[in-house]
Amino acid sequence: MDSLDARDLLGLEGMAAAEIQAILDRARSLKTSCRGDELNGRVVANIFFENSTRTRCSFEVAAVQLGAHPLNLSATGSSAAKGESLVDTANNIEAMGVDALVVRTGASGGAALVAKASGIPVINAGDGRHEHPTQALLDLFVLQERLGSLEGRRVAIVGDILNSRVARSNLHGLLAMGASVVLVGPPTLLDSSFESIHPTGGNATVEVSHDLDGVLEGVDAVMMLRIQRERASGGAISSDYRRLYGLTAQRARRMRPEQLILHPGPVNRGVEMDASVLDDLDKNAVLEQVTAGVLVRKAVLMRAIPV
Ligand code: CP
Repeated sequence: MDSLDARDLLGLEGMAAAEIQAILDRARSLKTSCRGDELNGRVVANIFFENSTRTRCSFEVAAVQLGAHPLNLSATGSSAAKGESLVDTANNIEAMGVDALVVRTGASGGAALVAKASGIPVINAGDGRHEHPTQALLDLFVLQERLGSLEGRRVAIVGDILNSRVARSNLHGLLAMGASVVLVGPPTLLDSSFESIHPTGGNATVEVSHDLDGVLEGVDAVMMLRIQRERASGGAISSDYRRLYGLTAQRARRMRPEQLILHPGPVNRGVEMDASVLDDLDKNAVLEQVTAGVLVRKAVLMRAIPV
């Protein structure tokens, strides 16, 4: 086909609130009404050219629980290791007759390149520093489960903003749903360019701060981000990163019980979050996010492959 498709999911930038809500509503309905044959006999190819635990496995579980067959391909062990490009790989997998492609790549914009060359739906499972739309959708799902409507809510996204596709997708998703966002991080990982992102309509705002303690009390949820060492951000953090920007046990104690703590995983224990905070499942929603990931990815697969 060689064009983008309305059933592609490449990012949340520009996606309307109603479309986001439709995915979240379908995910919610699947909690109680998944028959197991919704995608009977379909084949979903998971092409992961970057490492993953949560995203790849939850797409796989989602496909199996809908009656589809997952086909899993990683760079190691495939002909990518001989130099075959992502687009050539995807074209060859598509030629085998699969129904959708789920793509993770280190290249920002890589999922869109695959989608342009493909005649079947493409779902972005994380492309470089660009977007990770299903992560943001599952985060929005958990936030709605805990907080109800996100209209007028305030969410802090904390840490390695510069290198984070999770931050970008959540920023667009939260603004679309009417929530204001405070981006918090050291100047080396967060610059003022983010303040130029303006939400379309509504009263939601974007702020930039380098002072976590000043922000913490005034937010409904705090989303901690992993330091993206594979994108060289390890060199941009100082030895006092945890003290200034980590969710330490001391900071967590200051938070009110209704303030949500999120992290997309994997967590660098003792860097962006203390181990005691991560292990306190009454205090954080980290594993709840993982559970929501299966529901949301089921909804995304059903949107991509209508029956
Ligand atoms: N949150 C997330 O994308 O985790 P994985 O890299 O393990 O998929």
